[in-house]
Amino acid sequence: MHNKILVLHGPNLNLLGKREPEIYGKTTLEDINEGLRSRAEKSGVAIECIQANCEGKLVTLIQEAQGKYDYIILNAAAYTHTSVAIRDAIAAVNVPTIEVHLSNIHKREEFRHKSLIAPVVVGQIAGFGADSYMLALSFALTKITGE
Ligand code: DQA
Repeated sequence: MHNKILVLHGPNLNLLGKREPEIYGKTTLEDINEGLRSRAEKSGVAIECIQANCEGKLVTLIQEAQGKYDYIILNAAAYTHTSVAIRDAIAAVNVPTIEVHLSNIHKREEFRHKSLIAPVVVGQIAGFGADSYMLALSFALTKITGE
């Protein structure tokens, strides 16, 4: 165990709070990251939160997580529905990954129903707003610390 979790936020999530608040809520990305950091800290687990709009950057970050992190919590945002490259990166590394979405992608437009990454992750948490991340974190902390 490395006692470290990597949280990756995909494209447009830097706009959280201002972006379609009726769908994604009013909580900003920094608020989400702060909440995750303080929760993880209480369990003695370090957390790194990174947002990237570029697909290739996310692929590189996933590749580099190998051997450094116990879990990845990933909201791949729109790339969820399109990116074979992100899916292949998750499959290539040995870091269990939890897929997270603020909105319930299954009750939105049809093109959001399909997740290319779902078959290579531990599981998917969608529809709980900012709490989706917290639910993912609490699963990862349980596995890491045995709490
Ligand atoms: C999202 C859902 C995606 O369909 C969308 O492209 C996003 C955010 C979510 O968190 O609900 O950007 O991943």
